[in-house]
Amino acid sequence: MRTITLINGDGIGPEISESVVKIIDAAGLKIDWDVQTAGADVIESEGTPLPNRVLKSVKRNGIALKAPVTTPIGKGFRSVNVQLRKDLDLYANLRPCKNLPNIKTKFDDVDLVVVRENTEDLYAGIERQVDENTAESIKIITKNASERICKFAFNYAVNNNRNEVCVVTKANIMKLSDGLFLNTYREVAENYPQIKQREILVDNLCMQLVQNPSQFDVLVLPNLYGDIVSDLCAGLIGGLGVAQGANIGYDCAVFEPVHGSAPDIKGQNKANPTALLMSAVEMLRYIKEFDYAQKIEKALFKTLNDNIKTFDIGGSSSTTDYTDAIIKNL
Ligand code: NAI
Repeated sequence: MRTITLINGDGIGPEISESVVKIIDAAGLKIDWDVQTAGADVIESEGTPLPNRVLKSVKRNGIALKAPVTTPIGKGFRSVNVQLRKDLDLYANLRPCKNLPNIKTKFDDVDLVVVRENTEDLYAGIERQVDENTAESIKIITKNASERICKFAFNYAVNNNRNEVCVVTKANIMKLSDGLFLNTYREVAENYPQIKQREILVDNLCMQLVQNPSQFDVLVLPNLYGDIVSDLCAGLIGGLGVAQGANIGYDCAVFEPVHGSAPDIKGQNKANPTALLMSAVEMLRYIKEFDYAQKIEKALFKTLNDNIKTFDIGGSSSTTDYTDAIIKNL
């Protein structure tokens, strides 16, 4: 039996994790879940929101399914999510974004992939208070990190029959940092003559995405733009409740949805587990459990086509009723 780390998160995390574990189990795939708690709940007992045991577990198993963990806004401890990605060197954040059946949105032909650099940029949170009225944030972009994420994006394109990799920057203004990312992309692109190149500024990208998203294929972005643009892309296919993701490194991979811990709907049995379920389906493909991945995805699509949906995508099913419906359709 395969052992996989399960970080069940907080907020809606435990509710959606329970749903996904139940569905995978009902599909007949036996997994030994190595459950690891992290975040605010463990600070008091263990002195840190990200205890070493969590990192050790992911390293040992090489793979994890992760529900969201809350980060205090504007104060408090550093993000467990950012720390985990950094400590495990999960340098690539992969966020495929494709319409799901029977979820009505403005566009029905979205099929793009956001490849977000996951370790540096302003998102690393290197900040200091200069004086009482001034704060400073440092944007780090390195050649090494830019090169490996661009290679990842091009390799992904080659391996998944994609035609184009578009690089997204603001290199007209941040000429050195985003300029380095862009120039590195150009160098890497030379080794992939079969993949089309495209360059776009992030502000124009946002406008183009909300007008005509089907023109995009694979996008490669520095960390912060990737963070923001992937929420925008989630909106194109029905919102955060359905947007899947994965953090991939050389030695391990952590599969997690794009969304956060949604404290506004915590404990109400209404959270949509689809984003975590789709992340889990990708995880199963990653460990070559293709049949189970297919079986679960088919059951999910049938459930959506039967018009059984959670509130965020226009339905009225609870998390548990939706979960039971998927299980029935397996
Ligand atoms: P959020 O993604 O948690 O929620 C934004 C909106 O989307 C809310 O209205 C929420 O109810 C809704 N939503 C999100 N997931 C949903 C789901 N599965 N089903 C139905 N509705 C859903 O973003 P927010 O509120 O900005 O952040 C909340 C907390 O989550 C913060 O502490 C943030 O730092 C953390 N966070 C954690 C992430 C992670 O663990 N990877 C990623 C993003 C945010």
